[in-house]
Amino acid sequence: MDKAYIEKYINRTFIDFMPGQEFMKYPVVFTQGKGVYLWDTEGKQYFDAIGGIFVASLGHRHPRIIAAMKEQMDRLTMVPPLHSISDVTLKFIETLGKVTPGNLNYIKSFSGGSESIEAAIKFTRQYFRQNGQPDKMKVLSNYLSYHGATFGAMSASGSPRKIKFEPQMPGFVKVYSPKQLRDDFVTWEETCRYAAKLVRRTIEAERPETVGVFLVEPICNTAGIITPTEEYFHMLRDTCNEYGVILIFDEVLTGFGKTGDMFAAQTFGVTPDIICSGKGLSSGLIPVGAMIAREDLAQGFNAGTEANGQNFMHGHTFANFPLADAVATAVINVMTEEKLPERARALGKYIRGRLEGLKKYGVIREVRGKGILLGVELVEDPVTNRPFPEGRKLGTALKRTALDNGIILRIDADWFAMAPPLVTTDDQAAEMCDKIEASLKQAMDIVSKSRSVLHA
Ligand SMILES: Cc1ncc(COP(=O)(O)O)c(C=O)c1O
Repeated sequence: MDKAYIEKYINRTFIDFMPGQEFMKYPVVFTQGKGVYLWDTEGKQYFDAIGGIFVASLGHRHPRIIAAMKEQMDRLTMVPPLHSISDVTLKFIETLGKVTPGNLNYIKSFSGGSESIEAAIKFTRQYFRQNGQPDKMKVLSNYLSYHGATFGAMSASGSPRKIKFEPQMPGFVKVYSPKQLRDDFVTWEETCRYAAKLVRRTIEAERPETVGVFLVEPICNTAGIITPTEEYFHMLRDTCNEYGVILIFDEVLTGFGKTGDMFAAQTFGVTPDIICSGKGLSSGLIPVGAMIAREDLAQGFNAGTEANGQNFMHGHTFANFPLADAVATAVINVMTEEKLPERARALGKYIRGRLEGLKKYGVIREVRGKGILLGVELVEDPVTNRPFPEGRKLGTALKRTALDNGIILRIDADWFAMAPPLVTTDDQAAEMCDKIEASLKQAMDIVSKSRSVLHA
């Protein structure tokens, strides 16, 4: 496709979080996808090692999901949301409820992850208001976290992505993330223990009667696949129980098999009060996310009448959208029948081994993650953990070499991550790891050449 044509129309839209000029240095326009692969306008094949953006867990264009979608399209695609619900949505609630931990069975689907976070925050606020605790409105979450792009979800986020839109909404309080504390402690266990204590202390300092929620990603992608210990989550659970704080896991990214279980909550052995989900729930065939809350928390809402107004005062035009719920139901069925969370464990073991093997190049601090959701931190010196300096970041060079080698990864200046589809075959996993290794070596060459130029 002609570069001038792409530029003309790229200037009439934008690529998520990416400067347009950066995109135009290597404009990628895809025309086809199947399984773990995507093809661009030139016919070049790419290994999509992040399934879009941690979405296509069953690979692109999974035939069973397409079949379920077609069947639904031939029958019913929209129902009046103020009056009714579809049969397929009821089936979706039944199906999802069978794979969630504990009694997390109060479910509503939305158009994506941010909407499910917004809904969860509003759910807790109305819940406390109706349960005689009207001051429990504050939402606590971690610095560096990412919970979405809408205003509430963005205010709950600690990621620098929100800086241009500050001030955040009132009532959102941040706590240091384990990542920010790790160089103050000898072990990761100690770091996480202290981070969990800080959550407790922050709740105490803010006054427990004003804190309604602690919202946390079980594995934080935007900070570099930060993977706390199980103990961290148990400590959070205890603190939240003690102070009557609702624990929300943002599993938009971690949910649906990637960590080796349907939810990371199961991987870490801790059941939150609410799970927010998205991404992998659709495997990329339609926008969908879901709020999944403890059924007993919704009792008050279920007792709602015109007179008492206790029903959850929330909705979206495309909430509980039949076509989306048909897709999500089919995705969960495929995952369960094909035991894909188990597959994620086996695949993850192999990939992690290959990534650990890259340490021989002397630029890796750590390989992190669970199952097939894995991240690699890049440093200039793995003994002192000194990062690469600004202007010579290995991740920046890797962004280019990965595309040259036809592999899509999530790459930041100091780390990269992946979560290939759960249907990736052994051969494909080896191909992916080969491409990562080749791209890393080429990126190291670029960075070392730029050092020799600097020192010449
Ligand atoms: C952990 C997490 N929460 C929430 C979101 C927001 O989801 P969406 O982009 O579907 O609105 C994302 C998206 O990347 C995410 O990774």
